[in-house]
Amino acid sequence: MTDWYAREARLTVEVSERMLELAGIRSGMRVLDLATGRGEPLVRIAHRVGPTGLVVGVDPWMDALEETRRRVGENVQFQAVSADAFEFVPGSFEAVTSRWGLFSMPDPVAVLRRARQALKPGGCLVAALWAEYERIPWYSVPREVAARFGQLPPLAYDRPGPLRLATLELIERDFGAAGWVLEHVEERECAIVEAEDLGEWVRFFFPSWVTPAEELQRAAEPYRKDGVLRLGGVTRLVVAR
Ligand SMILES: C[S@@+](CC[C@H](N)C(=O)[O-])C[C@H]1O[C@@H](n2cnc3c(N)ncnc32)[C@H](O)[C@@H]1O
Repeated sequence: MTDWYAREARLTVEVSERMLELAGIRSGMRVLDLATGRGEPLVRIAHRVGPTGLVVGVDPWMDALEETRRRVGENVQFQAVSADAFEFVPGSFEAVTSRWGLFSMPDPVAVLRRARQALKPGGCLVAALWAEYERIPWYSVPREVAARFGQLPPLAYDRPGPLRLATLELIERDFGAAGWVLEHVEERECAIVEAEDLGEWVRFFFPSWVTPAEELQRAAEPYRKDGVLRLGGVTRLVVAR
């Protein structure tokens, strides 16, 4: 079976690398990574901070953390808990990162507050968040097909999911409520899946969606580029202090 996580990691290297750049990750730093999952950007950060640095990865998904653990050394610690409950010494990290995770959390403001307490004064948080529905075909294309063939809950920007922090207004509101000041926001296009048959990918990530193969291929075809079928979208990279 295709390892969709590994494929996504390969396609999204530039997003992770840009996060390291924006966070100023360098040798010896102590970094907190929230929603680590299968290790982006934590594994890269661990290499960059080296043996004198430390990275702490937080995610309640134990299996993913076990996979990630195999790819790192002793300068990485994991906490298999929700990001609103991780343990920390106040002011002990120089940077916080979170790639495509804050929007999955039931209470992002509580998580952002906690992250702020964990950070040393002057440290920064770098988060990757998806942009608006119309700008993220990886989600909107299969969802539009699924909506024609089954009952889906209405689109919502106020529930956990990729749209939860998908506008600048929502980002400003939630980061502001947790005491962060936005320093920089940029947008990047990136693909997260590349496959001739998108059906397997949709069944893997959205098992309850009904997306007949022909309909899905027809809907995705406009996104073929240079002969390759790829779905992705616009991600925002947010730097806050
Ligand atoms: C789309 S994945 C991103 C994983 C990884 N950062 C990446 O970019 O590949 C979202 C991650 O958020 C994690 N997650 C969901 N709820 C969470 C919570 N309350 N606290 C921490 N992580 C959470 C999931 O387990 C999953 O690993």
